[in-house]
Amino acid sequence: MRDDVLGLRLERAGACAPARLSDAQGRLIQYLRLSLTDRCNFRCSYCSVSDYEDGDRILSRAEIARIAAVFARLGVRRIRLTGGEPTLRRELTAIVADLRATPGIDEVALTTNAHKLAELSAPLREAGLTALNVSLDTLDAATLRRVSGRGAFLEPVLEGIRVAARAGFPSLKVNTVVMGGVNDGELGDLVRFAWGLGATPRFIELMPFGDGVPVPTAAVKERLAAQGVPLAPDPKRGWGPAHYMRGEGGLVGFIGAITENFCESCNRARLTAEGGFQACLGGRDRVSLRDLLRAGAGEEELAAAIHGALSRKDPRHHMDEAGARLVTLPMMGIGG
Ligand code: GTP
Ligand code: 5AD
Ligand code: SF4
Repeated sequence: MRDDVLGLRLERAGACAPARLSDAQGRLIQYLRLSLTDRCNFRCSYCSVSDYEDGDRILSRAEIARIAAVFARLGVRRIRLTGGEPTLRRELTAIVADLRATPGIDEVALTTNAHKLAELSAPLREAGLTALNVSLDTLDAATLRRVSGRGAFLEPVLEGIRVAARAGFPSLKVNTVVMGGVNDGELGDLVRFAWGLGATPRFIELMPFGDGVPVPTAAVKERLAAQGVPLAPDPKRGWGPAHYMRGEGGLVGFIGAITENFCESCNRARLTAEGGFQACLGGRDRVSLRDLLRAGAGEEELAAAIHGALSRKDPRHHMDEAGARLVTLPMMGIGG
């Protein structure tokens, strides 16, 4: 095990006692969602884009490596890179390689809008990325522009997903946020597209960060049956909140963020592009690990700040309550 990761000295706790990081409810936190940028080349109406300027506001590659090493020492086993759009970060493949080389981190995953995957799939696979989730809300170019803005073009997205499918990632999933009257007529086609590439399609309930009409997971399953995709229950569970069902071409995942609250089994926490540690996606509590680090904090102080935030973590989010938009911070820069 390396003791020194890009400048931060790490104490060894004891070789055979794996660290365990838990929150106020005793939930084990082994999964960190790490946003690399709050920039995005799309403007999805449900994601609420803020203005940005970069400079040293964002964590540097070295800072990311140092903070990731602390989380790994505390018990985090899996890191998912998010955004904004993480493929806009120039050092992406180097960051993936850094994280893969961090002792204790078993899996490095990425969630992307797929726009740059034609060029990035092979380097990401080589850097050691283990799981790839791509967002695809529609197979119709005009609907994509309507949902994701004028900078969103369908063909590069589809080509990016096809190239990723050939690159042989151990896991490839296609995420669709279901919006009533926008894409709920093409759910069957999205399933067939993903299955055709050997990928797993998943349907996500819209959370109240931006615009759009949510469709409950139960209704999504009815729409799928009507659109030629009957499904039967399947026991598969992954690292995330999705549950799965089986159809004739493979699995289909469902993330019922609102109607099927999964907070009880939460295993994750989030780090924003600016280094803000956020224990719950639906909460307002953020502590700046970046500021602590830049003020000279060592591992102990960072760990204390992380433990402090987790000890304040609520048992569940309140996004399903009236006025929810007022109690959450914008999605952009948290990365879902
Ligand atoms: P897998 O590990 O591949 O299952 O992925 P994941 O579901 O953890 O991550 P992904 O980035 O693909 O996110 C899919 C959807 O789940 C997005 O809409 C996220 O915002 C949402 N999501 C992920 N984690 C949480 C969570 O802790 N709470 C809520 N409410 N939604 C979440
Ligand atoms: N509700 C549900 N999912 C969302 N995403 C972005 N905004 C929302 C929202 N309001 C999804 C993206 C991507 C993942 C990181 O988060 O589509 O799949
Ligand atoms: Fe960009 Fe993803 Fe937000 Fe769409 S949902 S604007 S692709 S970060």
